[in-house]
Amino acid sequence: MGGPALPAFTLGAQAPMAAVVPCRAARAGAVRVVGARSGATAAAASSASAARLGDLGGPGVAASGRDRSLPSTACQVAAGAAFAAAASASRRASRRAVGRVQPLGLTPPSSAGGAVAASAAASLARRAVATATLEKPDEMYGTATDSKFNIPQGVRDKLGRDLLLKSAHPLGILWASVQEYFKEQDPDCKFIDTEMPIVGTKECFDDLRVEPDHPSRSPSDTYYVNEGTVLRTHTSAHQTKYMRQYPEIKSFLCAGDVYRRDEIDASHYPCFHQCEGVRLVERSKMTPEEVMEDLKRTLEGLAAHLFNASPGEGTMRWNDDYFPFTEPSLELEIFYNGDWMEVLGCGVIHHDVLRNAGLDPEKVHGWAFGLGLERLAMVLFGIPDIRLFWSDDPRFSEQFDKDAFKNKIRFKPFSKYPPVMKDVSMWIPESFNDNDFCEIIRDEGGDQVEKVELQDSFTHPKTGKTSKMFRVVWRDMSRTLTNDEVNTKHEQVLSRVVAELKVELR
Ligand code: DAH
Repeated sequence: MGGPALPAFTLGAQAPMAAVVPCRAARAGAVRVVGARSGATAAAASSASAARLGDLGGPGVAASGRDRSLPSTACQVAAGAAFAAAASASRRASRRAVGRVQPLGLTPPSSAGGAVAASAAASLARRAVATATLEKPDEMYGTATDSKFNIPQGVRDKLGRDLLLKSAHPLGILWASVQEYFKEQDPDCKFIDTEMPIVGTKECFDDLRVEPDHPSRSPSDTYYVNEGTVLRTHTSAHQTKYMRQYPEIKSFLCAGDVYRRDEIDASHYPCFHQCEGVRLVERSKMTPEEVMEDLKRTLEGLAAHLFNASPGEGTMRWNDDYFPFTEPSLELEIFYNGDWMEVLGCGVIHHDVLRNAGLDPEKVHGWAFGLGLERLAMVLFGIPDIRLFWSDDPRFSEQFDKDAFKNKIRFKPFSKYPPVMKDVSMWIPESFNDNDFCEIIRDEGGDQVEKVELQDSFTHPKTGKTSKMFRVVWRDMSRTLTNDEVNTKHEQVLSRVVAELKVELR
């Protein structure tokens, strides 16, 4: 497919979607950073990665196809609207590095040459974040805020919801099932699911080899409490803390809520859940080849356990991948419901990451993996919209109990209420960022906003001004919205967009 070219500095998209299966949404997320590759290798990785579907960290339902050259949001734009796909691809690609991932992508600012680095830096500089009307508390859970704070109330409200700890919630059920498998594999495995999502940029990025100017650190993609503190963008942020406790802890799983500023659709939400797994072993006890075999056997077993499949030819496959924290890096796909679906990202832990955790790579090595839980739960339970995970509607919650996974319960959708559509057409300044726009809409509309689609974009040939037109789909999951109530919120969105993003409405 003639998908749009990605910007030179990005390597890989977050959750690009197969153009051939346009509406099988994928979440992008993880940011994979390409660190030590040559320019040529990086370029090759870029196109390969950009063409992949899934987002390990994110919840989107990734379906693999042969032709994955368009981003997932391609399904949201009119056929042939290459500009929208290009914008989306570039946005995803820029994030796909840090463990964003799925969020997986990468940018090689240093390895791909000065021009690339300059381009990445310029892009970061341009990403001013709209925080004008953001109410800034002095502190958040004991951490002082500063001028970099960019977390709206709606996102703050997600902290402490602890969906993973609810035994009858689809995410809690899935997390329990993952633990069950690892308990059988390794009785000493430690399970961690109460770590606070407020972490240092050191643990979230530096320790994991995410370059200082990587776009995934941008406040347009990541929620900052202050300059050195973020809402974790992936559970990999806890890797080094627990690796440091080797040999008391030799293997662990760490699950929790992770946060990313992002677009709005059925598979993207600013808060979602991941599970991280690590196993460490003495070098004297296992060769590097045996570590790789152990990784593959264990994770194929996990996929088989979750999907009720048997590992083997035809049902699962391994693809090369890139994450800054593992070398080599792989992704596991499973053939499910007639298509290849990305299940997880993993690899052999990079020696620098071991060193950052105070370990000696001459003595200890190991593997790690990351899993996006919403995405799997959406597939396994047939849940069509990511907002449902946060719903208190008994018609959702009463469909699940702790045995729902074992009993192969599928979600029975309740009636959909009619949508109300609102279009926003505007001249945008150079600093305009789609995520800032989505954030204002989320802030005003909360879970009543189902989707924000870019419909049109063009640059005026004479004035050089750029225009964008978005369609906002409002729909409550429990009742019919009236046009009047949506109008009130829409007007509020418009006035904030004008005031905070400096756009000119058309
Ligand atoms: N942190 C990655 C993400 O958010 C997921 C991941 C990939 C975790 C590979 C890992 C790993 O531990 O080895 O997409």
